[in-house]
Amino acid sequence: MDDLLAAARTAMTRAYAPYSNFPVGAAVRTDRGNVYAGCNVENAAYPEGCCAETAAIAAMVAAGERRIVEVLVIGGGAELVTPCGGCRQRLREFAADDVPVHLCNADGRRRRETLGALLPRSFGPAHL
Ligand code: THU
Repeated sequence: MDDLLAAARTAMTRAYAPYSNFPVGAAVRTDRGNVYAGCNVENAAYPEGCCAETAAIAAMVAAGERRIVEVLVIGGGAELVTPCGGCRQRLREFAADDVPVHLCNADGRRRRETLGALLPRSFGPAHL
């Protein structure tokens, strides 16, 4: 998991978060063993900002991959960062309930959750 942490931490250092001053980095590992990272990118028109998880997912899809097997999110504060509701659903599109989601603070302190625990009884592609 250290490669996930390193990738997410590097992405976090590149976050564009001048409005919240809350940098976030995220990294996803795919079923092919590759790691894709992203950071939050805010905007003067506040609702147009993008979360780190969303950026990591976009990088994965742009690279031609679709199956997430592990996720890590790190924030710049003392609290463990947990994916927002929208990002839980975006992760759900490409990840199963049992996929580990590691929540980290700036020091690298971690807590292991699963996507199913963070988003129980979720709606997903199989419903359509
Ligand atoms: N943020 C993320 O990037 N991911 C999350 O799951 C939680 C929130 C970002 C969005 C915004 O740029 C900043 O953190 C403060 O909400």
